[in-house]
Amino acid sequence: MARELFNSPEKKWIREHFWLPRLLDFKARFPPDIRFRYLTFAGPEGRDIEFFTQEHSVFAIGDIRVWERSTRSASLIRQKFGLELQIKEGEAFTLSSSVAEQQAPFFPYSVVNLDFTDGFFNVRARRAEPHKFEIIENIIRCQQKHASGFLLLLAFNVAPDVDNAEGQVFVHKMALDIATRYGATKALFNLTRGAKQNYPDVLGDLVPAAVIRAGGEHSFDTQCTGKAVYRPYGRRRSTMLCLSFEFQYDNPPLSQSRHFVSQRMEEVIAKRQAESFKVVVTQVNERRKPVGKGGPKRAREVPKAVL
Ligand SMILES: C[S@@+](CC[C@H](N)C(=O)[O-])C[C@H]1O[C@@H](n2cnc3c(N)ncnc32)[C@H](O)[C@@H]1O
Repeated sequence: MARELFNSPEKKWIREHFWLPRLLDFKARFPPDIRFRYLTFAGPEGRDIEFFTQEHSVFAIGDIRVWERSTRSASLIRQKFGLELQIKEGEAFTLSSSVAEQQAPFFPYSVVNLDFTDGFFNVRARRAEPHKFEIIENIIRCQQKHASGFLLLLAFNVAPDVDNAEGQVFVHKMALDIATRYGATKALFNLTRGAKQNYPDVLGDLVPAAVIRAGGEHSFDTQCTGKAVYRPYGRRRSTMLCLSFEFQYDNPPLSQSRHFVSQRMEEVIAKRQAESFKVVVTQVNERRKPVGKGGPKRAREVPKAVL
């Protein structure tokens, strides 16, 4: 089998020990009368779909929708799973945008898995927001219309030099902001001394703060519930950061002005951002190291996120 990013033992670990427990926990608290639905980037083999439907009955295949920009991958998973699986071929940025009205009827989802392969801040042109962040905001807006809480799983490449200079502007501004407002100076310190090997830690602090802000501004109490870093087959140039978030809709009274609602959410955002800096980053490759010479691989429990 080809050594692809999606079939590494480390990725398997993420599915089993990072995604699955969070999905099961969320599902156990989900209203039983609402269909538990999944939106995912499945890749050419749909390993997450296989895992969540066949090995663990978390979703029914008819409750899954795939967004896939590669025609080849879309055709492969169509052959593998048949017509019951809904596949929409296209770039998530276009599919999630407000002009893509055709995608709106398929919302809301219970779990959204944005399992990217490239960098979060690899921005093609000067713009107000990185493309990936805009995808997240578009999805949050669609979920808000349905007042629907959900789980967001996010993964992207955090290898040194994966993000370009335009993207670094966003990174530096956020690092300065959280250092100033919270005294959380680690990200800024690492960036200013150019410590490239710490880029996963830097983005592990900054991206959750931005996602929590975006959720809060759409009336979601948003918590970062996990962080993990893995290097597929030990390759540094594809170091991946995985994050998980839980969005609970806050349902503001219709009688309250926007100003009042956003003032209240400001406190929630600040509290959740401060908590997110304390969430421990699980180092998947370290976890998987043999216990002793020739000994078995460790299969320890994922520690509860520090909240
Ligand atoms: C890492 S694979 C997904 C693996 C899968 N989640 C699993 O657990 O095996 C990522 C897939 O998403 C697709 N993809 C990445 N970025 C995308 C985007 N912006 N829009 C649509 N598809 C995207 C890629 O073509 C690739 O097939």
